Amino acid sequence: MKKLPLIHTPLPGPKARKLINQDQTYVSPSYTRYYPLVVEKAKGLWVHDVDGNIFLDFTAGIAVCATGHCHPRVIEAIKKQADLLLHMSGTDFYYRPQIVLAKKLAHMAPGKGAKKVYFGNSGAEAVEAAFKLARWHTKRELNLAFYGAFHGRTMGALSLTASKTIQKKHYNPLVPGITHIPYAYCYRCPYNLCYPECELGCVQWVEDTLFRTTIPPEEVATIFVEPIQGEGGYIVPPPEFHREMNKIAKKYGILYVVDEVQSGMGRTGKMFAMEHFGVDPDIIALAKGIASGMPLGALAARAEIMDWEAGSHASTFGGNPVSCMAALSTIELLEEGLMENAAVQGNLLMDGLVKLQQSHECMGDVRGKGLMMAVEFVKDRETKKPARTWRNDIIKLAFQKGLLLLGCGENSIRFCPSLTVNTAEIDKCLSIFDDVVREIAV
Ligand SMILES: Cc1ncc(COP(=O)(O)O)c(C=O)c1O
Repeated sequence: MKKLPLIHTPLPGPKARKLINQDQTYVSPSYTRYYPLVVEKAKGLWVHDVDGNIFLDFTAGIAVCATGHCHPRVIEAIKKQADLLLHMSGTDFYYRPQIVLAKKLAHMAPGKGAKKVYFGNSGAEAVEAAFKLARWHTKRELNLAFYGAFHGRTMGALSLTASKTIQKKHYNPLVPGITHIPYAYCYRCPYNLCYPECELGCVQWVEDTLFRTTIPPEEVATIFVEPIQGEGGYIVPPPEFHREMNKIAKKYGILYVVDEVQSGMGRTGKMFAMEHFGVDPDIIALAKGIASGMPLGALAARAEIMDWEAGSHASTFGGNPVSCMAALSTIELLEEGLMENAAVQGNLLMDGLVKLQQSHECMGDVRGKGLMMAVEFVKDRETKKPARTWRNDIIKLAFQKGLLLLGCGENSIRFCPSLTVNTAEIDKCLSIFDDVVREIAV
C-alpha cells in the first residue's frame, strides 16, 4: 500500500493507447471519458490498467461497486448461480432468486405496510418503470421534477432529467407534462435566499405560486426527486426539505417518487438516503450499487400503488437470476458492516476535506453524506465564480498521479469510493488530492 498507486508508464501506456484507437473506430462517440483509463482488472479499491499501472479508485465505477471491485463473496454467489441458471425471464416464468430478492427489498424499503418490487436492468429502467407505474395508478398526467436532476437517458427518464442540455439536445419532443422546479441548492440558492432564514421558500413557492397559477395540483401524479442530487453536484438539501415537500405531495394525493439509484444501498451510511430526511417514499427506484456491478434496476412501491395489470410493464432480462444473487450477496455484506463503514469512513473523508478547504481557497463548498461526498470549486469564495477548468484539470492530474475521480455538477468533484474503503485509503486519497489541488489551482 505504501508504494501504491503505481504508475510506471506515461498515461495512457502503449497497450491502452492501442485499445483507445480501436475504441475510437468502433465504439459510440456518445460516451464521456474524462481521462484515458483502460481497465484490465480490479480488486477492492485498486484498479489495474492494461499496462500494469495501479490506481486508487474513488469512483467505484460511478458509485456502483458498493462492495469493492470483485468482492469474493459476490463472485462466489455469481459463479454458483451461473452454474445453475443464467436466464429464464422473470417476465414469463418464476425462479427463486427473483422472488427471494423481491421479498428482501420489500422488507427493506422504508415505510410501513406491504410493498411490491419490479425489476429492470438499470437506473433509467427503474425510473422509467416508476414513471409508468405512477401514471397507471393515479391516472394523472402531470409531474414535477427538479432542475439539476439526473434520472437517466431513456426518453421518459430523460424527460425528468434537467442536468445538462447536451443530454437533451436534438431529442425533443420529450414526454409532455413535466415541470421542473428549483432544488434546495443552498450554496447557490436559485431564489437568492439564505437558509434557514428563507424558511424553505423554495418549497413554499410550489404551493403558493406554482399550484395557484399554472399547475392544478389535483392533476399532478408525482414529485420525482433525488434525496441528494447526484450528477447535479452531490447537493444535500436542508434536513426538513423532503419532509415539507412530501407534506405538499400528501395534501394533494401526489406520489413522492424517490430516485435512490445513486444515493441508495448504504452509500450515505444508511441503506437509503431518504432515511436521513425521515420521509417514507411512495415509490423508490434503485440500481447502481444494488448488485455490485451486475446489471440490475429495481422499483419498490407500496403494494396498493403497484396495482398494474399483467402485461402493462415488463422486461426480458429484468431481475436476471445471476444479478439477483449478486444483489442478495451485496445486501448481506452491506448489512454485515459495510453500511456502517460508509458512515465512519465518510466522516473521516468529510473531516479531511474540510481541513484541506482551510488551505485551498478554491474549495468553495464541501458537502455530502457518508461516501457520497463532493467538493465544489470556485475562483474565489466571495464571488463563488465556478472554477470549471480547475475542476477538470484536477481530475486529469489526479489520474496521472494514480487517483481516479469523477466530476459532478458544473464545477464539482465527487468522492464515491466502494463502501469497503479503509482509513489508509481515505488518507491516501486526501494526500494525492491535496497535492493536485495545490498544483492546479493557483
Ligand atoms: C439518480 C440517478 N438516477 C438514474 C440514473 C440512471 O442510471 P443508469 O445509468 O443505470 O440508467 C443515474 C445514473 O447516474 C442516477 O445517478
